[in-house]
Amino acid sequence: MTELFAEIGQSRLEIEIADITTLDVAAIVNAANSSLLGGGGVDGAIHRAAGPQLLEECRALGGCDTGEAKITHGYNLKARAVIHAVGPVWMGGIADEHTLLANCYKNALDLGVQHALESLAFPAISTGIYRFPPDLAARIAVGTVASELASHSRGRSPILGRVIFCCFSAESAEHHKNAFGELGLV
Ligand code: APR
Repeated sequence: MTELFAEIGQSRLEIEIADITTLDVAAIVNAANSSLLGGGGVDGAIHRAAGPQLLEECRALGGCDTGEAKITHGYNLKARAVIHAVGPVWMGGIADEHTLLANCYKNALDLGVQHALESLAFPAISTGIYRFPPDLAARIAVGTVASELASHSRGRSPILGRVIFCCFSAESAEHHKNAFGELGLV
């Protein structure tokens, strides 16, 4: 269920509380690690729901640097694609984590645009096992996506019609709602 939404140009930005593996969107984003060979958290859930072919395709990708993103098929998921983004491990803020997290969102959106995906759902990258403070991560996530969508809608690139912040808890949704408010989106 949608908790809150905002419109930016021709795109709709939504906050939902859900298990991302159940969403009927063109692509879901995975909070992966640099091996791209699976793990716990949302990564484990996505691999379990997509089936073993996802791991096979990931093996051929040769890993992914922090802040970067790579795309695969979605296999047994409703989503037809998975965008694997590697968030930074929180080191107290001294290791450029802010920029690296913003880069994940930017690079995932760029892939979405390149592949003409009409809808994309993000988990709260880095806020679980990688321990990024969730309020700060939500501000970075919402701020980056909002400014990217605004610049896409001014340009000529195909537009992502719907971007969802898929939160796994009410608390996470609150952080995203606060970020919408702070950024003047609602
Ligand atoms: N749907 C949506 N969100 C989920 C789901 C799910 N099914 N499962 C977990 N989450 C949420 C967590 O509550 C957290 O807010 O996703 C967010 C990111 O948490 P993690 O999955 O732990 O990801 P991250 O902190 O980026 O750590 C990445 O975890 O499993 C590994 O391979 C992964 O090593 C990498 C590390």
